[in-house]
Amino acid sequence: MCFFVHDLGSRFFATQDSSPPMAGQIPQRFIDDLLARVDVVEVVGERVALKKSGRNYSGLCPFHQEKTPSFTVSQDKQFYHCFGCGAHGNALRFLMEYDNLRFPEAVEQLASRQGMEVPREGADDPRAQARERKRQEGVNLLELAANFFRERLRMTEAGAARAYLERRGLSAEVQAEFGIGYAPHDWEALKRHLSERGIPEAVQVEYGLLVQREDSGRTYDRFRDRVVFPIRDFKGRTIAFGGRVLGDAKPKYLNSPESPVFHKGRELYGLFEARQANRQLERVLIVEGYMDVVALAQFGIRNAVATLGTATSEEHLSRLFRLVGEVVFCFDGDRAGRQAANRALETVLPLMIDGRQARFLFLPEGEDPDSLVRREGADAFADRITCASPLSEFLFEQASLGRDLARVEDRERFASQVLKALQRLPEGVLKSMLLAELAKRSGVDQARFEALLTLSAAYEVERDGGSSPQAFESREEPSKGHIPGRAAGALGLVGRTLQLLVHEPRLVERLPETLEWCPADEPDGALCVEVIELLRAGGYRSPQVLLAHFHGRVEGQRLVELARRELLIPREARANELDGLVEHFRQQRLRRTPQSEIDSLLARERNGERLTREDRQRLKELLTALSR
Ligand code: UTP
Ligand code: MN
Repeated sequence: MCFFVHDLGSRFFATQDSSPPMAGQIPQRFIDDLLARVDVVEVVGERVALKKSGRNYSGLCPFHQEKTPSFTVSQDKQFYHCFGCGAHGNALRFLMEYDNLRFPEAVEQLASRQGMEVPREGADDPRAQARERKRQEGVNLLELAANFFRERLRMTEAGAARAYLERRGLSAEVQAEFGIGYAPHDWEALKRHLSERGIPEAVQVEYGLLVQREDSGRTYDRFRDRVVFPIRDFKGRTIAFGGRVLGDAKPKYLNSPESPVFHKGRELYGLFEARQANRQLERVLIVEGYMDVVALAQFGIRNAVATLGTATSEEHLSRLFRLVGEVVFCFDGDRAGRQAANRALETVLPLMIDGRQARFLFLPEGEDPDSLVRREGADAFADRITCASPLSEFLFEQASLGRDLARVEDRERFASQVLKALQRLPEGVLKSMLLAELAKRSGVDQARFEALLTLSAAYEVERDGGSSPQAFESREEPSKGHIPGRAAGALGLVGRTLQLLVHEPRLVERLPETLEWCPADEPDGALCVEVIELLRAGGYRSPQVLLAHFHGRVEGQRLVELARRELLIPREARANELDGLVEHFRQQRLRRTPQSEIDSLLARERNGERLTREDRQRLKELLTALSR
């Protein structure tokens, strides 16, 4: 058994040893060094209650259910071992199993505890080395510049800048936390400072600190007489700057251009600071400006980030969703704000896999978060965040804007706009719920929408054509039953349920006692039931042990496949998602059962069969239940 588990485990969590060397690999030296610095007792102890017993520590095994401890951790050997289920390994293995991480992720996590940076490139690849040197050079240079700006803010010449910051109400603490500085009123102050330290002008130009004139080739400081906000990457390294004028001159804000370390479409101002303030960040508020982020932070709202003068991109969002489960977009209440919100909706739709949330917050006209939080205070602003519209609400609201849903034509346009959005949504609970809601609001049978969506997905009908209103107005009955032709590789909802359980078997504890909710006749359904029953019977809580049980069967392959797919949502969101899925299956069952029963009762009646009194009573019940 032990051998079995081990064998499968090493393939499931493909470690480096089993894969060919490639760029981006973590050097073994580093891993050894890392393991030498961490203490497995500490790592395990944060997740499992351990008691000292003799030379070792012991506790209840987190990988299977037990009442008496058979799980031991040895400080000397830096190893854990369970005499009950055979789980064993070092600190990295523990993190992989317990936190469900892949090898590089576990290394990252351990390293960040130690304040160590994980070297990524093959140590003997000269191109990678050059790239890394380049990055380092840029970061050092920009850090020098940031210090320079900060020092200058304290000097006499910066009197007006300090007065400006005070007028804007920024406390000394928040200025320090965000590293705010001042670029002096001088064409060459920074250039002199950096050049004296041996940094070639060309490099200063490359990282956007100096501007070079096309005609003469002369160079001068980009930021002059401006308050300067350093832009940091998520590890806190300065990668660019934004500078604001003190008065009304144009442009109001000046940003560093793209450089080897700065890509606007990817970075978010304030993300590093938000993570510093709260390691367990669950929600992020996306606002428009530097000042908004800083002002909110000063008022204790520490989770705001801003894009850098660009619209929120898919890359911004997918980065955020790797850190948090929920994103709240904040917009001005005017027309431009609505438009920006529509764009954000478009961008976020494809990313809305289950477990993620997006909401939309509109501010009163003429206000931005900075002005509003100062006027009405942190609590009132926090209430606004709490009440922000969920994506579904915003979507329906947008689609019904300027339409009279009592009119057929308007209803059609409404439905086709919503359908267009649904086409961009990944399969999942959200999509199903929106479909049901759309059916309710438009008065069109849900099955028709489903058929339409499947059709357009299967034939990749152009977006507009795919949801043309005539299509669902046709009198033809859509085919009942299974929706054919799911996109290859897309997971059904039962598949998703199973995937959650494979990655995190302990979630089985939250499932309802009886398994009626689980649609055993759908793809993956029977396997899902089997897995749940096995997890319960064996008390297993380790993916490896689960996979070992199915080893050698077709079902085993399916489970391995599911295990390899990333879950893509943070850990805290998983239980919620599972609950949502179960609820969805229950509703679906409720919807289905009476319908088919009604159908068969009605069919019998149509065929001239006389229904019994009980039958008629039942039919009446069902029909009233349905019309409620
Ligand atoms: P806003 O014009 O809304 O400014 O620009 P703001 O954040 O309210 O700034 P204050 O309160 O007047 O100081 C929002 C964001 O758009 C980008 C900046 O990132 C700014 O934070 N922007 C704006 C520029 O890049 N350049 C500009 O000239 C103006
Ligand atoms: Mn403002």
